[in-house]
Amino acid sequence: MQQQLDWLKKNDAELIAQLARLVAIPSISTDGAHQKEIQQVAELTCEQMNAAGLHNVSILKSGDSNPYSYGEWLGAPGKPTVFLYAHHDVQPVAGFEHKWLSDPWTLTERDGRLYGRGAADDKGAITVQLGAIASYLKTVGSLPVNVKMLVEGEEEVGSRNLAGFFKEHKQKLQSDVIVVCDTENIETGRPSITYSLRGIVALHIEVVSGEKPVHSGLAGGMLADAALALNVLLSRLYWKNGKIPIPGFYKKVRKLTPKERRAFRKLPGNDKTWRRDFGVLPGVKFATKKGLHPYEQTWRWPSITVIAQEASSIKNASNQVLPRAEAIVSCRIVPDQDPDKVYKQLAKTLSADPPWGVKVNIKPAGCVSWWMTDPEGPAFEAALAALQAGYGVPPVAIGCGGSIGFVGPLSELFGGAPALLLGIEDPRTNAHAPNESLDAGDFRKLTASLAHLFHNLATLNRDSG
Ligand code: BES
Ligand code: MN
Repeated sequence: MQQQLDWLKKNDAELIAQLARLVAIPSISTDGAHQKEIQQVAELTCEQMNAAGLHNVSILKSGDSNPYSYGEWLGAPGKPTVFLYAHHDVQPVAGFEHKWLSDPWTLTERDGRLYGRGAADDKGAITVQLGAIASYLKTVGSLPVNVKMLVEGEEEVGSRNLAGFFKEHKQKLQSDVIVVCDTENIETGRPSITYSLRGIVALHIEVVSGEKPVHSGLAGGMLADAALALNVLLSRLYWKNGKIPIPGFYKKVRKLTPKERRAFRKLPGNDKTWRRDFGVLPGVKFATKKGLHPYEQTWRWPSITVIAQEASSIKNASNQVLPRAEAIVSCRIVPDQDPDKVYKQLAKTLSADPPWGVKVNIKPAGCVSWWMTDPEGPAFEAALAALQAGYGVPPVAIGCGGSIGFVGPLSELFGGAPALLLGIEDPRTNAHAPNESLDAGDFRKLTASLAHLFHNLATLNRDSG
């Protein structure tokens, strides 16, 4: 391993420069307006895959998907095949540009952190994976395992073509172990393996009360205000510091085992650091249910967020009774909630007995499954040992409140292959927000850990998952 680790040290500046080139391309997938940049970043990813020594590098597509970058190295016959996943698309910066302390598209180092949109979510993962691969191919000339690396271009919009893509290319992609680098470490410098993800059920709600806006001086007080009616409906979701008041909503929520409960309590994190990391204003309270551990609340309990609301805009405001108002309600779901059931429960709560008899139209706005595994077995052992070696700190098993929809289906497609979710983000990352960043130390430590992981997985019996 020494040669590989030395190579990583020697090539540190070059790896950061590679990441900077990825970050420089605004490959935003959420607005449909950056297809050129997404193509560019997919091509650059391929170029970097080639440079790292991967073979059969190409851009793949499925239907009208954004381009996937793919590369492989299959020179270890009889050894396990490791499927590596990352994504090259990023979140937008629009609306909050002024909050950035440096240009979002110029990777900038400040106080040991690398700032830039996508630095952590998830371009850093591309560099980390390629760094670990190159550390072998550029020194000993071979990897101890086979590698198939896929970098997606539409993760931030729900990976809508990924399931089809996997089915289409099942043979080509078939692997023994899945390694996803798109989650977080529980604290900077503390390596974490994620063993549960929440899912998402989103819906679009529209309230219509009339054919047109009407002067509020003529009819205010007489006509049903669609904006107010919508908010009356949304207020039915308000949970104060308790449970979301939807009948039967928690019936299927899987309980923590006593072992998990003990483990959660031992994990780092406290109100002070959460307030700082999440930017909570003084005097504003947390919404956590009384007595519930914050990790249980955010990893293993469902939650509801109104992620958009429109009636009129402040800019166009005038004295009118508005005839239409809309919102998107996004619900994080957990093991063992059924997405269809949750959708129905939400729709029923939001459409029953609307104020003034306004029309309520509800339609689905996307759905992603939750995922949970038992973090045990030889693949997890290999990962824990690799993280210990790479970080020099004992790793922890954690949950995640976010969603990565394909993990479950892909693991199934590969016949129950274990999925190792290793972090590249940390509590200060600000993913999806201004001043996204990556801890430079963790970037190096994860790269070294992956190099160790390849070594450790080589001895894994191919069907002992
Ligand atoms: N990297 C995140 C997932 C994540 C969230 C990891 C929070 C760690 C903490 C991923 O890129 C993401 O944002 N996923 C989306 C999925 C959605 C678009 C279906 C999410 O969770 O909102
Ligand atoms: Mn991500």
